[in-house]
Amino acid sequence: MERDPKTIVVGVTGGIAAYKTCELVRGLVKRGHRVKVVMTEAATRFVTPLTFRTLTSEPVTVSMWADAPDARIHHISLAEEADVVVIAPCTANVIAKLAHGRADDMLTTTALASEAPLVVAPAMNVHMWRKPVTAGNVATLRARGAVIVEQVSGELACGDVGEGRLAPVEVILEAVEAELVRVRDLAGLRVLVTAGGTREPIDPVRFIGNRSSGKTGFAIAEEAARRGARVSLVTGPSALPDPFGCEVVRVETALQMRAAVLARATDADIIIMSAAVADFRPAIVASDKIKKADAPETIALERNPDILAELGARDDIRAVLVGFAAETTDVETNARGKLAAKGCHLVVANDVSDPTLGFGTDENRVLFVTAAGTERMDVLAKRAIARELLDRTAALVRSR
Ligand code: C5P
Repeated sequence: MERDPKTIVVGVTGGIAAYKTCELVRGLVKRGHRVKVVMTEAATRFVTPLTFRTLTSEPVTVSMWADAPDARIHHISLAEEADVVVIAPCTANVIAKLAHGRADDMLTTTALASEAPLVVAPAMNVHMWRKPVTAGNVATLRARGAVIVEQVSGELACGDVGEGRLAPVEVILEAVEAELVRVRDLAGLRVLVTAGGTREPIDPVRFIGNRSSGKTGFAIAEEAARRGARVSLVTGPSALPDPFGCEVVRVETALQMRAAVLARATDADIIIMSAAVADFRPAIVASDKIKKADAPETIALERNPDILAELGARDDIRAVLVGFAAETTDVETNARGKLAAKGCHLVVANDVSDPTLGFGTDENRVLFVTAAGTERMDVLAKRAIARELLDRTAALVRSR
């Protein structure tokens, strides 16, 4: 089948897993892509440039100072040509350099100069991976929109056991393909996302809140922005930093969230309500801190407005509406009920009875419930859930 050849820049860094990059490169070539390999000096200790040159029929670049094949400034031309930059394996050292914008060799210079999506497949010793400094660098890359292809657990070359092994080549291939498809598929769309839990004050220091961390909503906002959407994120208090490239509105209460959402809702093409909005608020908020001796036996509550149901009932809102349903029993039935009751197009349902998933964790197992049916997903990283959700939501927008 004839297809547009895409240019994939494959960065190889100095880890034992570099031998697996030969398979990755073969796979990309087989799929009809033009593959240009850039190696760090350290990588050449594990695999020779000749191997990649033979597999790709393209020159392999290691040094900044060799003559450019087409006499242009080579790192810039490579960076511009790339439809996707994938670095596999990526060592802790190169992750650190990428996170801090260092550009002291051909690979990091190309990555810094490129506007293309960046796919990073880390591989390293488990202790290096678990160091907070590495975790922080990985988080920085993620926050800027890089796709991190999660490592897998198993026996490492050094004899240690744990996470650190390069993800399987097929998984990296799929991540690259997904980026080729997703590149800016939400361009021109306005996406409004809510995240986190609301806090309903009792007095100036106390509140009623919930355990939502905001991770899912932040991941959705970040991913939507990376795919070209104009994103507004309205979030309850969350420890997470502002996602890159989004308008971020930080609120406290359900009423504040409602106001921020309604102000943006009529312009939106997609509204994703992942926030855990408190259903009730204290009817009276004390203006001074309540003294222990004066503490009431009970706190009278009043209902908060249901923001999603309100959006679903309005005629002037044309957005595809996505709701979330955290359930402990009859997950699918309850989610389907919410789909109808709140007038939304898709409900993301999850079972919050499993303490290892959901609130505050990085993973979740969700169902996507629409009028057309239910899809049960495996346990996925919240970032992967964000991608899958946006794929489906974008399809709903296109089908209208
Ligand atoms: O009814 P329940 O709270 O389970 O519904 C959850 C969904 O409704 C979520 O999408 C949440 O953001 C939204 N919601 C809302 N306003 C509320 C309560 C929930 O928009 N007051």
